[in-house]
Amino acid sequence: MKRVRVRLGSNSYEVHIGSGILEQTGQRLKENWFTGNLVIITNPIVKGLYGDALNQNLTRDGFSVVTLEVPDGEEQKSLEVAGRLYNELTNAYAERTTPILALGGGVIGDLAGFVAATYLRGVPLIQIPTTLLAQVDSSIGGKVAIDHGQLKNKIGAFYQPKLVITDIATLKTLDTKTLIDGLAEVIKYAVIQDKELLTYIEDNLDKIKSLDESVLEEIVFRSAKIKAGIVEKDEKDLGLRAILNYGHTVGHAIESASDFKLEHGKAVAIGMLAAAKISNRMGILAKNELLRLNRLIQSAGLPTKLPNLEVTKIIQTIKHDKKILRGKIRFVLPKSIGSVFITDEVSLSLVEQILVDWNEET
Ligand code: NAD
Ligand code: GLY
Repeated sequence: MKRVRVRLGSNSYEVHIGSGILEQTGQRLKENWFTGNLVIITNPIVKGLYGDALNQNLTRDGFSVVTLEVPDGEEQKSLEVAGRLYNELTNAYAERTTPILALGGGVIGDLAGFVAATYLRGVPLIQIPTTLLAQVDSSIGGKVAIDHGQLKNKIGAFYQPKLVITDIATLKTLDTKTLIDGLAEVIKYAVIQDKELLTYIEDNLDKIKSLDESVLEEIVFRSAKIKAGIVEKDEKDLGLRAILNYGHTVGHAIESASDFKLEHGKAVAIGMLAAAKISNRMGILAKNELLRLNRLIQSAGLPTKLPNLEVTKIIQTIKHDKKILRGKIRFVLPKSIGSVFITDEVSLSLVEQILVDWNEET
């Protein structure tokens, strides 16, 4: 079992990463001084796979457990569903000290986290992420949110969990598509800060795809360490934390221009390549590094070709992106693999040119 400490003064916490550690949740909660009542928020898929067993284990360990279920899917990240959960928490006599355990992927983590941040002005939150994306990204750093209208994560808070329990064994039941989607974020960490991680992914791609636990544990641990280090320096996303948006400027635009038919990880993969191409065109990123990234994204099973979308629609969507600051587009560009910088100096015409030229080069 590995631990990553997120050092945020009185809001500090640990991320516990290991295989089979879900069974020891009760013991870990007791070590963190939790006793008595607790609430699990999950969805029917994850409840069937892990929630019922977790409930039984915690009951055996002396906790009084209520499980609240929301249906599967992004559309559950809504004020309406949060409102229903507030009622259910009230009916379950949840108090200020009653922890909420968010058991599931990023949707459950964001929604249950939002509810934990706002119910009774905040109750303790324990993140128990069960997708690769949630394990390497959304469970760490305290961003909790619901969607509003067409806008993703529009209403939310920074609300750090008290503990993150990351059981690698839960990834065994993930479908390949969801696993590969999460892998895009791991590649993102490698490009922004860890060249050795990129080599590790290249060398172990088959083991990642065949769900080798020790390899998965290593990539989750290294990613969690990178995310924790960035969040420690910029908890409220006022500067450095923006580097976590590498691949997301063009990525979000493509995801949104496709009416969210293209999965997030695939859109981010294209976005990472777009930023790398821009950097290369500006004379910064070397061509061999761009080609290396392209090869890895392709062999990971992520797309390297632009989806069939109108370039003007993508450009319009970039203009409306929340990463635009005072009229300038904010880009995170790789200098080299393992190092990025933030810039407002990328013109929309260069982005457009890169998108128009896309399928003819690389
Ligand atoms: P998700 O939560 O929808 O999970 C994907 C699918 O996998 C779902 O059908 C889910 O039920 C299922 N699932 C979960 N764990 C499983 C398991 N162990 N075995 C089998 N199936 C399992 O999607 P996601 O990719 O985990 O998260 C996406 C969400 O995360 C988005 O809403 C996004 O906005 C959010 N997000 C938040 C942050 C943050 O910092 N808070 C960062 C990145 C993404
Ligand atoms: N996922 C981006 C962030 O946590 O800032």
